[in-house]
Amino acid sequence: MDANEEFKKGLEGIVAGNSKICKVDGENGRLWYRGYTIEDLAQNCSFEEVTYLLLYEKLPNANELKDFSAKLAGQREIPDRVLTLMKTFPKAMNSMECMRTAVSALAEGEPDARFAKMDVHMASALSMTAKFPTIAAYQYRLRNGMELIHPDKSLSHAANFLYMITGKKPTDVETRSIDMDFVLHVEHSFNASTFAVRVTVSTLSDMYSAMTTGLGVLKGPLHGGAAEAVLAMLKEINDVGNVDAYVDKALANHEKIMGIGHRIYKTTDPRAAILKKMAQELSSKKNDMKWFNICDSIEKKMIKEKNLHPNVDFYSSVVYHMLGMPNDMDTAIFAIARISGWSAHALEQYSDNRLIRPVDNYIGPLNLKFVPLAQRQ
Ligand code: COA
Repeated sequence: MDANEEFKKGLEGIVAGNSKICKVDGENGRLWYRGYTIEDLAQNCSFEEVTYLLLYEKLPNANELKDFSAKLAGQREIPDRVLTLMKTFPKAMNSMECMRTAVSALAEGEPDARFAKMDVHMASALSMTAKFPTIAAYQYRLRNGMELIHPDKSLSHAANFLYMITGKKPTDVETRSIDMDFVLHVEHSFNASTFAVRVTVSTLSDMYSAMTTGLGVLKGPLHGGAAEAVLAMLKEINDVGNVDAYVDKALANHEKIMGIGHRIYKTTDPRAAILKKMAQELSSKKNDMKWFNICDSIEKKMIKEKNLHPNVDFYSSVVYHMLGMPNDMDTAIFAIARISGWSAHALEQYSDNRLIRPVDNYIGPLNLKFVPLAQRQ
């Protein structure tokens, strides 16, 4: 490559592969999973249903959904050795560091992916999908010196997660809210963590390595880490009357407003639109509109100043807060949902694999005169 040849910083706009999983229309703010609109899926489906759709390429019928849900519910508990390991984690480890380490430790010597059949990868995907909420809830309770609440097979994926965190059986509204939030977070084409999962799989590494990669990439504040940063920002602003000054100062200092902006969406992120409605309804039910109103005001200001819109992490922070979720769990909740998309992409990559290995545009020197160690200044 010529040193002056143009490249796209951050791979913006680069097509990196074919996929049948998800379509994002950033110009018009539209999103489909396997051909179904996000609006239909969010309104009508559970996490289990959409996970089945992503993994098996069709919506399940009633029997298939029942079997699939039972299969997930039956493998939520984590091995004792992983729990023992989690008990050694320092309190300072944050939720994503705990999840990344515990998920990596779930592996038990995966078969060589050169010879493994697809059902081995599928089994690993289902096992981790079932266990992610348990790991997230256990690390939260361990870090806060609370008694562990073990998974309850009789509850749905969403309800069981809320139960393991709060210790209370959730209401229908709470369950439906977190379930819808999961559906909105499960998948989003070649985003950074999903692409990283595909790169990992393309080396014919195993599913546990791939999901551990996904967690490490999701954690960053420009990706899923923004979820936690939003509520911290709202608390710093604290009053709707402070929004203009806060945003003006941040923009003057070239700082990012968390939960705003997106590489693909040039208009409203359709997931944010659904989450905004949900945040408003939950806040109104709780008679606590403060955080929603701050968000709404930031949204208006950022559209006016920069024509930048809220992304999926913006109003979800208010949803989690209204559901009583601890703030430092926001990115972990994203991960609990996103493992479905990661798994679907891993399976798609395994099924038609070629090593992903781009090139760089080398801009350093060549043929420098070598100086032996003893003669170096
Ligand atoms: N706050 C303020 N300005 C922002 C911004 C934000 N959240 N997001 C983008 N911008 C501005 C940049 O400062 C830049 O302005 P400039 O051209 O005047 O220098 C321009 O928009 C392009 O930003 P850039 O970071 O190059 O866009 P990107 O496509 O690489 O980044 C994000 C996309 C999501 C990383 C970016 O919007 C961001 O950092 N958002 C906040 C973090 C976040 O919410 N992440 C979750 C994504 S789902």
